Amino acid sequence: MPDTYILGIESSCDETAAAVVRSGEQVISNVVASQFATHRPYGGVVPELASREHLRAIVPVVRTALEEAGQTYQSVDALAVTQGPGLAGALLVGISYAKALAFALDKPLIAVNHLEGHIHAVLLEERQKGNHELTFPVLALVVSGGHTHLYLAEQRENGWTYQNIGRTRDDAAGEAFDKVAKLLGLGYPGGPIIDKLSKFGDPKAVKFPLSQIKHRDRREHAGAMPSNSDHPRFDFSYSGIKTSVLRYVETRAMQAAIEERKRAIAVIASPTADDYRRNCDQPTLDLIASFQRAMVDDLVDKTLTAARECDVATLFVTGGVAANNELRQTFERQAAGEGLPVFFPSRPLSTDNAAMIAAAAYPKFLAEDFASPEMSAEASLQLR
Ligand code: KG4
Ligand code: ZN
Repeated sequence: MPDTYILGIESSCDETAAAVVRSGEQVISNVVASQFATHRPYGGVVPELASREHLRAIVPVVRTALEEAGQTYQSVDALAVTQGPGLAGALLVGISYAKALAFALDKPLIAVNHLEGHIHAVLLEERQKGNHELTFPVLALVVSGGHTHLYLAEQRENGWTYQNIGRTRDDAAGEAFDKVAKLLGLGYPGGPIIDKLSKFGDPKAVKFPLSQIKHRDRREHAGAMPSNSDHPRFDFSYSGIKTSVLRYVETRAMQAAIEERKRAIAVIASPTADDYRRNCDQPTLDLIASFQRAMVDDLVDKTLTAARECDVATLFVTGGVAANNELRQTFERQAAGEGLPVFFPSRPLSTDNAAMIAAAAYPKFLAEDFASPEMSAEASLQLR
């Protein structure tokens, strides 16, 4: 099989990204234009602003990705674009541009599910390291700002299939990091800030009991995924912990300090971890460390329970929250204790990027699974 160069485009949330990947196994270029500065004053992603920023960035980002790869519009073999899930307006920017390019260049276009992209970030980097051996069954935890999903992933002759065996009932894990950071007067996105500050606090200072979801309840709950298999479900729930942090802040009268911190941070153009730390007292650092410990313990416990019950041979942990240091260390330690190999993407490929989209597109390219001209954005696209 000759080398195949796929140009991937990603615009599902607050990053405009383009990348060239060779044959699903080597990143040739990987360009990400983040919109953090645009959304930071609002403490979260503003969908209209995201679409506008994607429109502004998409052409230069794609051009840079091609240039850095030593490729041209004509030389790539195919284009791949995120179809969903994500913000409809944001997705449409990438999809419209990719469709126009594919039509004008007469190249195949491949539609990729963003969550599948996160899973393929792991596969791409393992192949890049020369690791082509993968033992099935594989369980993948996709943990990001919009999703906390557990999938059993299988490789078939014509590509990959996925079975969802767990998901969040309410807030995604990354959303909980972002909301807690916002309510403590820290910046956006909150995950990386909490990650950096946690090491200065006592993780045992505050106890956060996380909701335990019973198996039977999972099937009965209105928001639960329909169960189409024999597997029990392993759902997550993170809106309660955010409320617990809020209650803690109220009962300890921490609001005045939070307002003061917000004012101090707002005047710094690009606040660093040191700036945040200087503006946090010890009780706040302890609260941050305790919150992160509770999140990490719950993610690791539920995922390893699912891994045990489904008797999986390999674990993937991917998505923005997979960049978290304590999460990686805890998974590594506990999975090793159970003899379960665990794989993460490198940190740049944990958060949103287009290399993962180009990598996930490669098996579809081989199977000639191309997008129809009518393909459009699907904000709630499911992964199967
Ligand atoms: O995968 P991603 O870039 O976008 C989505 O698909 O949502 O994930 C973004 C999420 C945000 O909620 C961000 O706060 C979180 O990932 N995140 C982290 C870390 N880096 C990013 N959460 C915890 N620790 C980190 N180091
Ligand atoms: Zn993502």
